[in-house]
Amino acid sequence: MTILAIETSCDETSAAVVCDGKILSNTVSSQTKLHAEYGGVVPELAAREHLRNLIPVVKSALCEAGILVGQLDAVAATQGPGLPNALLVGFKAAQAVAFALNKPFMGINHHEAHLYSPWISGEPPVADFSKLQPNISLIVSGGHTMLVLVKSELNHRVLGTTIDDAAGECFDKTGKMMGLNYPAGPEIDRLAEQGNPEAFDFPRPLLNDAGDDFSFSGLKTSVRYFIRDNPALLDDAQNICNLCASVQAAIVEVLVKKTIRAAKRNGVRCVTASGGVTCNRALRRELAQVCERECFILHLAGKSLCTDNAAMIGILAERKLLANAPLMPQDEEIKPGLALA
Ligand code: KG4
Ligand code: ZN
Repeated sequence: MTILAIETSCDETSAAVVCDGKILSNTVSSQTKLHAEYGGVVPELAAREHLRNLIPVVKSALCEAGILVGQLDAVAATQGPGLPNALLVGFKAAQAVAFALNKPFMGINHHEAHLYSPWISGEPPVADFSKLQPNISLIVSGGHTMLVLVKSELNHRVLGTTIDDAAGECFDKTGKMMGLNYPAGPEIDRLAEQGNPEAFDFPRPLLNDAGDDFSFSGLKTSVRYFIRDNPALLDDAQNICNLCASVQAAIVEVLVKKTIRAAKRNGVRCVTASGGVTCNRALRRELAQVCERECFILHLAGKSLCTDNAAMIGILAERKLLANAPLMPQDEEIKPGLALA
């Protein structure tokens, strides 16, 4: 089955062609440079940029895959959650293609696509999906932080979510306080490699709470006060690296410990992780070390599939079509507040 998938939920315009579980192309046009000037995503600008980029991105994905539009069997797009106007661009374009070709259309939950992205080409590559079931899955992105119990393919339940800021937001906002460009997550990751994670002691919110929810706003505020009270710190490059390493250590410790605790409590042997923050090297290292020590099988989404991309949308759409999930009417609407069940 050959599927064209489109993702425009935030600030990445992406189109992918997938066929029989393989990614034939996955074109991503990132808008981060545009939004960096404003210190965060400007929704109206994002939507306009999607409008400008979508056709070239789709053409490039089809061309790289060597697929003509007429060869498509279905079309998929992100239905939500996301920025309303940004979602509209990709979702309506995908519906129009499906309508013109008279082919099935599938709207996909962005988080569900992240959730199954480690199944596509994790590290190590996954040959047999059954080896991953059941698992505890950590989804960590700019807007969400979640722990999900995946009982089997397409059968999952959210155990916990962030009650305020997401981990990615905490990276981005604390980085901004340090004067780093948006999105600060990758920059903190880079600078932290040269820093001492024990230099400064920041809180680990909800670490000892028995539940699976997360909270990162207290950590963010604590970093804000720390910088306010020690402004000279930011004049020294090594201190900035130490600050990055210390903030990162607090975020990573909470994510890893709560994930492993949920895995133990639910009696699973496998752990997966996905979403933009899963690019973070300390998080990947820490999860790998703890999983090895505690004898969990770990599957991380490949780095190119961690940040927003259309391939994960297409792969999930194909699995759903194969599982006979109900097709969507071609006039179905976007769902900006769509939650993961
Ligand atoms: O999944 P994603 O591309 O978009 C959303 O769905 O939100 O995640 C973007 C988030 C941003 O907050 C970004 O700073 C963070 O992922 N991120 C990182 C790294 N790479 C991306 N955070 C920490 N370390 C990284 N290497
Ligand atoms: Zn995402």
